[in-house]
Amino acid sequence: MTWARSVPAELLEVRAAEVARLARVSRGGDRDRSATARALLRVAVGAWTGTGADRVVIRSACALCGATDHGKPFVASTPAIPTPPHVSVAHAHDVVVVAVTAAGPVGVDVEPAGAARFEGFEAVALSDVERATPGVREPAAWIRTWVRKEAVLKATGLGLAVDPRCVVVSAPHEPPRVIQPPAADDAAHWQLADVAIRPGVICSVAVRTGPSGSLEVQVTDLDRLALISGGSSVRNSHPSNR
Ligand SMILES: CC(C)(COP(=O)(O)OP(=O)(O)OC[C@H]1O[C@@H](n2cnc3c(N)ncnc32)[C@H](O)[C@@H]1OP(=O)(O)O)[C@@H](O)C(=O)NCCC(=O)NCCS
Repeated sequence: MTWARSVPAELLEVRAAEVARLARVSRGGDRDRSATARALLRVAVGAWTGTGADRVVIRSACALCGATDHGKPFVASTPAIPTPPHVSVAHAHDVVVVAVTAAGPVGVDVEPAGAARFEGFEAVALSDVERATPGVREPAAWIRTWVRKEAVLKATGLGLAVDPRCVVVSAPHEPPRVIQPPAADDAAHWQLADVAIRPGVICSVAVRTGPSGSLEVQVTDLDRLALISGGSSVRNSHPSNR
């Protein structure tokens, strides 16, 4: 996984294909985070594959409606990257996180540690089991539960189109584990990890690895200058992230 602080979109190389997508993101902060996420994703995939960021093509596809201007991002298969890794993106405040792996469909989520519980959280987000977990309403607990769940939902590519109450994750004070994945999938096919990005940020990552999978997460932080320069200084720097 790679994270960076959000950079003003104007300072980043925005690919022609991304201009229209970003134009639809109305708020400046959101636009900066989204542009940063795409740039970071190119850098991280470029380093992971050893091809360099400039040869990485990122697209999106909505698993529900088929549109290509929203939905889960993916790395296009090209001669430079014939077997692309799975990827996921999350952002919160000034933090942007991307996950890159060959292990299987991946989802990452990040939230500020002090985020306020949204209206109706328990009713719309928690399963009966989770609702009965002692302390789940405490700030650190509910945020951890939520990022674990959202990571699983993002791995499927459906996001919140799936009812979060159908996904059950381990209690926030217990080791991360998917207890009930979406669509009656087998929990043994899923791996879940809590990831320490930096203080004040709660992050989890989920991968559908299949039956014999395991998950080892490596975290890299990328400074803004490397991001603005298109990642040339980090080319080939993370071969062990495979
Ligand atoms: C994906 C989703 C959970 C993200 O929630 P969020 O907390 O607002 O944002 P996050 O920071 O966690 O993640 C944002 C990133 O998720 C990614 N994303 C978008 N849709 C996604 C999906 N369906 N699955 C996985 N990832 C998705 C994008 O990369 C996005 O960043 P970008 O817009 O800068 O590229 C939420 O937006 C969602 O559920 N969307 C799907 C809703 C839907 O069904 N739409 C149907 C349209 S036809």
